[in-house]
Amino acid sequence: MSDTASLTYGETTFPLNVLTGTEDEKALDVRQLRKESGLITYDDGYGNTGSCESSVTFIDGDKGILRYRGYDIAELAEKSNFLEVCLLLLNGELPSSQELAAFESKVSSFQNLPSEVLDSIQAMPSSVHPMGSLAAGLQALGGACPHLCTNDRNQDIANFDDAAALIIAALPALAAANYRKKAGESLRKPDASFNYCENFLSMMFEKDGDASINPALSKALDLIFLLHADHEQNCSTSTCRMIASGGANPFASLAGAVSALWGPLHGGANMAVINMLNDIHGSGDDGSKFIQSAKEGKSRLMGFGHRVYRNYDPRAKILKSACDKALAALGVSSPILDIARRLEEVALQDPYFIDRKLYPNVDFYSGIILQALGFPTNTFTVLFAIGRAPGWLAHWKEIAQTGKKIHRPRQIYQGSNLRSYISVENR
Ligand code: ACO
Repeated sequence: MSDTASLTYGETTFPLNVLTGTEDEKALDVRQLRKESGLITYDDGYGNTGSCESSVTFIDGDKGILRYRGYDIAELAEKSNFLEVCLLLLNGELPSSQELAAFESKVSSFQNLPSEVLDSIQAMPSSVHPMGSLAAGLQALGGACPHLCTNDRNQDIANFDDAAALIIAALPALAAANYRKKAGESLRKPDASFNYCENFLSMMFEKDGDASINPALSKALDLIFLLHADHEQNCSTSTCRMIASGGANPFASLAGAVSALWGPLHGGANMAVINMLNDIHGSGDDGSKFIQSAKEGKSRLMGFGHRVYRNYDPRAKILKSACDKALAALGVSSPILDIARRLEEVALQDPYFIDRKLYPNVDFYSGIILQALGFPTNTFTVLFAIGRAPGWLAHWKEIAQTGKKIHRPRQIYQGSNLRSYISVENR
């Protein structure tokens, strides 16, 4: 029996195919619905809309599953690293040791950005937010490498491997350039003897004469990047795909994705966790009053709850133990961390949070680790963007290779009907 459903409207019944994904996700295929019935579907916020078929990432929010290209996130977190996961996402398969070494060396060599790109970061007002600077820096980078940024689909696909490696290499360098400009410090050049995360930490924080990076720090950062590398059709990834569907190059598509990630409901939640902890501390509360106000609906326990994960966030589970290890390695202790631990302990045993399936999400721990690593709060979302870049690029490639149509949703128009123009003196 073929899998079909039907929709009856008025006197007519319309058959609808049911598509089945490789993990048994079912979807009503409404592609012919408007043509056949004159009806469109309405799904404000796209919560029930499959916008594409994709083979990059699988999430089952009820079971707490996240897989990149079929590999479980916990196994990748334990055995892999960020640059290897970049290649997995970009190419669909784990790389051979030669492929990985070639990619690492390409990324390392690309970290020395063209001077005009770095100058463009310096030329921006100091008040520009790190996310605004990152989006603009990506556009400048594309402009400085016109052969990788043509808007000719075939050429952009042919040059995709170089463009992807360049973007992955450039994001930490762009972030560091913005940070050092704001701090009034001169730029620090990448060091080819450092790995990806060591280089980022060095370009951000090292002063002249400093020689080494604490491996526990660069390992914690690598894990944060790996855990953020993709999350299927979220707001910024859908934005990237939307821009790419119009034929735009990877640099423009990722600049749009960075802008979409910027918002507090998306990439900004890890900042909100730290702001909440600071507020609780500043008010002299040990967390108990805040929990009570969250239960009364007067505030939100930031870093708890997730639209998709209703059981637990698998990334948070991994990051919690990494967070404990990193803080121990750093010998960090602070009243803010004590409050975070107390909030977590109380909330996980409280029926309000248990009944609503509210568990710590990835942002609860990532904000705490990033603060302990010394990153200013306003750079947290930039770190999210660096981690998410391979996911955006994998989706750009998927759209470029398989997408046939420009993305263009419809709407239910609820505005004025036709009316006549009234000249300004008669209004
Ligand atoms: N603190 C207190 N109560 C909460 C919280 C929270 N963090 N989250 C949800 N609730 C309550 C709601 O008040 C509601 O209670 P009610 O049923 O008595 O009215 C119930 O739980 C369901 O909440 P919704 O808002 O319907 O859940 P939704 O799925 O829409 O929201 C969201 C998910 C936005 C993540 C929400 O849990 C939240 O605001 N969390 C805090 C912000 C945060 O950490 N965001 C990061 C998400 S992860 C990421 O983007 C990488």
